[in-house]
Amino acid sequence: MVQTKLHQKKRQVMIFITLILSWEAGSESIRYSVLEETESGTFVANLTKDLGLRMGELAARGARVVFKGNRQHLRLDPDTSDLLLNDKLDREELCGSTEPCVLPFQVLLENPFQLFQAALVIRDVNDHAPEFLAREMQLKISEITIPGKVFPLKMAQDLDAGSNGLQSYIISSNPHFHILTRNRKDGRKSPELVLDKALDREEQPEIRLTLTALDGGSPPRSGTTEIQILVLDINDNTPEFAQEFYEAQVPENSSPGSLVITVSARDLDAGSFGEVSYALFQVDDVNEPFEINANTGEILLKKKLDFEEFQSYQVDIEATDGGGLSGKCSVVIKLVLDKALDREKQPELSLTLTALDGGAPPRSGTTPVRIEVVDINDNAPEFLQSVYEVQIPENSPLNSLVVAVSARDLDAGTYGKVAYALFQGDEVTQPFVIDETTGEIGLKKALDFEATRFYNVEIAATDGGGLSGKCTVAIEVVDVNDNAPELTMSRLISSIPENSPETVVAVFSVSDPDSGDNGKMVSSIQNDLPFLLKPTFKNFYTLVTERPLDREERAGYNITITVTDMGTPRLKTEHNITVLVSDVNDNAPAFTQTSYTLWVRENNSPALHIGSVSATDPDAGLSYSFFQSSNQVIQAFEVNTVTGDIRLKKKLDFEEIRSYLMEIEASDGGGLSGKCTVAIEVMDVNDNAPELTISLLINDIPENTPDTVVAVFGISDSDSDNNGKMMCSIQDHLPFLLKLTIENFYTLVTEGALDREEKHNITVLVSDVNDNAPAFTQTSYTLWVRENNSPALRAGAASAGRCAVPEGHFPGHLLDVSGTGTLSQSYQYEVCLMGDTGSGDFKFLKPIVASLMSEGAGMDTAENANFKNRLGFN
Ligand SMILES: *[C@@H]1O[C@H](CO)[C@@H](O)[C@H](O)[C@H]1NC(C)=O
Ligand SMILES: *[C@@H]1O[C@H](CO)[C@@H](O)[C@H](O)[C@H]1NC(C)=O
Ligand SMILES: *[C@@H]1O[C@H](CO)[C@@H](O)[C@H](O)[C@H]1NC(C)=O
Ligand SMILES: *[C@@H]1O[C@H](CO)[C@@H](O)[C@H](O)[C@H]1NC(C)=O
Repeated sequence: MVQTKLHQKKRQVMIFITLILSWEAGSESIRYSVLEETESGTFVANLTKDLGLRMGELAARGARVVFKGNRQHLRLDPDTSDLLLNDKLDREELCGSTEPCVLPFQVLLENPFQLFQAALVIRDVNDHAPEFLAREMQLKISEITIPGKVFPLKMAQDLDAGSNGLQSYIISSNPHFHILTRNRKDGRKSPELVLDKALDREEQPEIRLTLTALDGGSPPRSGTTEIQILVLDINDNTPEFAQEFYEAQVPENSSPGSLVITVSARDLDAGSFGEVSYALFQVDDVNEPFEINANTGEILLKKKLDFEEFQSYQVDIEATDGGGLSGKCSVVIKLVLDKALDREKQPELSLTLTALDGGAPPRSGTTPVRIEVVDINDNAPEFLQSVYEVQIPENSPLNSLVVAVSARDLDAGTYGKVAYALFQGDEVTQPFVIDETTGEIGLKKALDFEATRFYNVEIAATDGGGLSGKCTVAIEVVDVNDNAPELTMSRLISSIPENSPETVVAVFSVSDPDSGDNGKMVSSIQNDLPFLLKPTFKNFYTLVTERPLDREERAGYNITITVTDMGTPRLKTEHNITVLVSDVNDNAPAFTQTSYTLWVRENNSPALHIGSVSATDPDAGLSYSFFQSSNQVIQAFEVNTVTGDIRLKKKLDFEEIRSYLMEIEASDGGGLSGKCTVAIEVMDVNDNAPELTISLLINDIPENTPDTVVAVFGISDSDSDNNGKMMCSIQDHLPFLLKLTIENFYTLVTEGALDREEKHNITVLVSDVNDNAPAFTQTSYTLWVRENNSPALRAGAASAGRCAVPEGHFPGHLLDVSGTGTLSQSYQYEVCLMGDTGSGDFKFLKPIVASLMSEGAGMDTAENANFKNRLGFN
C-alpha cells in the first residue's frame, strides 16, 4: 500500500516536470492538420503512437480531448483510441479571414495525470467563389474625359483565405478600357478601370463590360458583374443642313401662308444639345416676304410677291442647337411669271385681222398682219467707226474725256449738219454725257468697277432733216484696288469649355470686290495663340482651338483676325473677337490630411463624436461618405455628409474589434472625388471579469498522500494589458497548495496528509489587477472537495455539490467609469459538480451576482453579504 502511494507520487512529480519543459519548448508539441469540409469520423492521428504510449494506455488512463469553449471538434475512438474528426469543420466559420486557422486543444490523461498541448490546423479548401455584391454597376463618364483617368470599382468578396482568396480582376476585351487590380492596405484587392482611348458619345453612347474576379484556387473560381458605362454628352456637334443651298420656285401671286420649301438640319448631340431650331438669318426688313417655322423648318409666304419688284430672293436660314452652336444654309427663291411677255418689248408685232358678216350665224374671215417700221432715210449721218472700244480706270475724275466719236453727212446745209446724242439713254442712271457738237463723251458720274464693268453706249447722230445714224461705244471699266477685304462672321462662339478637343470658335467668310491681285486675300491671326485658322471652301474659314485650353491657365483670348489683299497698295481689314474659356469641373476634392488616426474608448456612449475629416474643392460643394467600407465599419460609424464629422452608432468592444480602417470619400457635384483613410483605435477598458475553466478534477484522493493533483484549471481575462492581469489564490490554513504550472495555468495539489474525517470547502479567488481601482475586485469560485469520495460519486451522488444558486446574467455591460476614472467591481461564480453526467465534469456557471461599487466601497453591500451567507462563506 505504502509502496503504491510512493510510486504514484513520483509519477506526478515527473508529470509536472514534463509539462513545464513542454511549455517552455513551445506553445504546443503536436500539430495536426485537416482540410476543411472533411467528413465527420475521418481518421486524424494515431494518438497512441504520437504520444509514445502503450497500446490501450489512452483508454486505461481516461484520456480526454479538451477544446476551448467545450467544443468537441475531435474525439477518441473507444476501440482503437485513434483521434477522429467529430464534426465537419468550416474554416470560414471558425476563423473567418484569419490564416492559418489554428485551434489549440489539450489531451488530458486523468490517472495518473498528464497533459499534452496540441493544435488542430484547418486548411482552406477553395469552396467559395469570388462574389460581387451587385449584379451590375453603372458609371457615367463624360466624353471629354482624358485617357489615363482611373475609375475605382466595387470589390468582390471571397470568403476563402490565402491563395484560395480573391487574387485578380479581368475585364471583357474592349478598345476603351483596361483593368488594374489594386492591393489595398487592409489586404483586400479592389478593381480599377482605366480609360485608354477617349470616348465619343455620338459613336457609342453606352458601353457594357463584364468584370470578372478570380481567386487563386486550382482550378480558380470566379464571379462576374456587368459594368454599364453611360457616355455623357457635351455639345461637340453643330447643326448641319442637309443641303448648303436650296432652290425654290414660287408662282407670282401665290397666297400668303403657302409653303415655299422645307429645310432640314440635324445635330448629332443628345438632349437639348441636339435639338435644332430654325430662324431667318439677318432679317433686316420688316417687309421680308418670308417666315420660317422654328420647329419644322418650313418656309412660308408672308405676303404676295410681285414679279415686277424682284425676280429672285436669297434667304439665309440659321439652325441653332440648345448649346448655342449653329449652322447656316441659303435658299434662292425665283419667281415665275404667270402671263406672256410684254408685247411692247417685242421688236415686231403680229396682228390678226378678223372680218365678220351680218348673217345668222355670222361668218368670218381672218388674216395675219405684220407691222414693221420701214426706213426711208436717204443721206443719213454715218459714223467713222460703227464700234468704239475704250478703257477707263474706275474712279477717274468727273468730266474726264472718255472718247470722241465722229459722223459725217453727205447732205449739205442744215441737212448735213450733225448733232450727237445718247440713244435711248436713261438720263438718270447714265454715267456718260456727250457734247452735242463735238461728239466728245465725258464722265458725269464716278465709275465703279465692282458695280459695272462694261457699258455699251449707243450714240445717235442726227442731221437737220431728221435723219440719223448710230454707233456703239464699248466702255470697259478698269479695276483699281479701291476695296479693302471684308469679313463676314457667320458663327461666333464667345465662350468655349476648357479641356475640350479641337473646338470651332468662329466661322467666317472673306470677300474683296476687286479683281485680280486686288481681290486676292490672305487671312491670319496673331501667331502666339493656341488657335488655328483653317480654310474650308472658297473663301470660308474656321477658327479652331489648336489644343485643349485650361481656364486656370488663361481665362480668355483677344484674337485679331487680319485679312489683307494683294493689290497695290495692300488693303487690310481687322476683326477683333474675344473668346472666354469656361470652367469645367476639373478639380478633384483634396483632403487636408491623407490619413487620420482617432482614438476612442470601448463602451463609449453611442452617438459620440470622435473626430472630423475635411476636404476642399475650388469647383463646387462637397459631400462625405464611406468608400467601400466593410459592414463592421458601416454598423459602427457614420460620417456626416456635410460636415465630415465621424460619430459612433453603437458601443465598441475592444475584445471584439481593436481597430477599424476605413476610407472616406469627398465627392463634388461634378463626379470628381478624393479619398482619405481613417484608422480608429479602440482603447481597452476593464470590462471583463476573469474566467476560470476547469480541465480536470480528481475525485479519488487516497489519504495521507501529499502532492496529489486534485484539480487542473486555467484562468483567462479578455481584457488586455493591465486590465487582463490576474491573481489566483485559495484560503490560508488548508492542506492544499495552488501551484502555477505555466502562465495562467494552475494545479491544486494536496500539501499535507489528509485526514479521512476532515471536510474542506476550498474557495479559489481569481481577481483581475487593475492599477486604477483602489477597491480590489475579485471573483470567487467555491469547490467542495471530499477526501476519499466514494467512486459512486461519478455515478450521480446527490451529495457531490450544491447548485442551489440560480444562474445570473453576465454583468459586463454594467461597467462604468466613475467620476474619478477608477473602476470597481465584484463577481462571484459558483462551480458545482454535476452529479448525473457520469463524467466527473464540472459545469461552469455564469456569474451570479454582480455589484457596482463606487470608489472605496469595498465588499460590504447588502447583496454581497447576503451572498456570502448563502454560500456559507467565511
Ligand atoms: C497505432 O500506433 C501503435 C504504436 O505504433 C500501433 O501499435 C497500433 O497498431 C497503431 N494503431 C492503428 C489502429 O494502426
Ligand atoms: C481683351 O481686351 C480688352 C480690351 O482691351 C481687355 O480689357 C481684356 O483684358 C483683354 N482680354 C484678354 C484676355 O487679354
Ligand atoms: C483690335 O485689337 C487691336 C489690339 O488690341 C487694336 O490695336 C485694334 O485697333 C483693334 N481693331 C479694331 C478694329 O477694333
Ligand atoms: C462547507 O460548506 C458547507 C455548505 O455551506 C457547510 O455546511 C460546511 O459546514 C462547510 N464546512 C467547513 C469545514 O467549513
